[in-house]
Amino acid sequence: MDDIALFKEHLKERTKNCDAILEELLLPGLVISSGTPFTYFADDQDAPFVTTPHFSHWCPEEGPYHLLAYLPGKKPMLLRHAPKDFWYDHSESGEQFWQEGFDIVEYDSKDKLWEQLDRYKGFAFIGPEEAKAKEKGLKPNLKPLVARLDWQRGLKSDYELANIGQASKKAASAHRAARQAFVNGGSEIQIHQAYMQELGCQECDLPYHNIVGLNEKAAVLHYQFKRRDSSGQLLLIDAGARYRGYASDITRTYVHSQVPETFKELLKGMEKLQQELCNLILPGVSYLHLHEQAHMKISDLLIDSGLVSGLNQDDVISAGISKAFFPHGLGHMLGLQVHDVSGLQKNAEGDPCDPSSRFPTLRTARDLRAREVITVEPGLYFIPMLLNLLREQEWSSNLNWKMIDALTPFGGIRIEDNVYIQEGTPKNITREFLGNEFLV
Ligand code: GLY
Ligand code: MN
Ligand code: MN
Repeated sequence: MDDIALFKEHLKERTKNCDAILEELLLPGLVISSGTPFTYFADDQDAPFVTTPHFSHWCPEEGPYHLLAYLPGKKPMLLRHAPKDFWYDHSESGEQFWQEGFDIVEYDSKDKLWEQLDRYKGFAFIGPEEAKAKEKGLKPNLKPLVARLDWQRGLKSDYELANIGQASKKAASAHRAARQAFVNGGSEIQIHQAYMQELGCQECDLPYHNIVGLNEKAAVLHYQFKRRDSSGQLLLIDAGARYRGYASDITRTYVHSQVPETFKELLKGMEKLQQELCNLILPGVSYLHLHEQAHMKISDLLIDSGLVSGLNQDDVISAGISKAFFPHGLGHMLGLQVHDVSGLQKNAEGDPCDPSSRFPTLRTARDLRAREVITVEPGLYFIPMLLNLLREQEWSSNLNWKMIDALTPFGGIRIEDNVYIQEGTPKNITREFLGNEFLV
């Protein structure tokens, strides 16, 4: 199917689902805002603008102040903000494939645009302009509505899957360029620049800030800096790309051949268990259970590598040792947002997943559904702060501190792929475009 046909199907699905939800909640229609810019305190500078995902789910147009109005049975209407302005460019985003789906009307001021909402009294409203929407007689950000729409957003249409595929393809070639920069002895900033050069976009176009950590900085889970002065023996790069608003989220860990053999074995072990976990991604499978499986596999790896001795898998988990080496969740939903919605909902009504779970910080903790896209990103890190806590525990003597201290300068390992959930065999979107040649 071409772009036009894919988008047509996608929009048809949006309207059909929305019709059912509006009918259930006795709402006459829906208005969605593309958002307003965030201006820094005591400044006249705005943060890079991100279109609200609710708006993007319907319409690929980007930028602030647009409104989308939907009345069941009618073509959705795009009220496009197009001021006469020589400071900024307000022309259309350029792509035409989606425009047929909307009645598009342009307004040269926000006031004129909002005046149109007098027609939509009683409609639901989604967006940050709550007070303004209330003044107009709209019902802003109704929880039951947002929960139902988020629940639907978890399921990806073929259009969305194609976009995530393109975002993965773009990120994959940028990852290869970054790997080459690492092979050439580049610093964190040079590796980042190689990535950006290949991707050919601005940083504000990324789905999240690139994480580029050499050596010990690989142990900082969301490491935000880019050092200029050092090359390294290990690179952890967590970086994605955007395509038509949709994100990819990919992590690779590479090492030069001089790193200790024990570290290389850990890397091989992590690659093996990450692929095993990816292959378990099927409809109906509990993601909480998969997270537990990750802990079991990582515990086995800690034992097999000699980092832990005299304890079995259960002990390693219940003592919190595996959690000190793997302190984050196995993954999260992926879509318009890198940490996409619906992972913590139990149902369309928005009931939360069991909060008594042993892993309260997971971003996804329910059974997986066909047509969702999820990340699988186990990690094994040497984080001094968490290791110091382990040192004080009663079973500290079961840990091989000599080995831990020798490996700590290499930071850690994370391998992250994006997987589409379907019956039969899971579709590993990332591996279609990027293998894992982790030894340099
Ligand atoms: N890139 C952030 C994450 O993997 O969740
Ligand atoms: Mn990531
Ligand atoms: Mn991720």
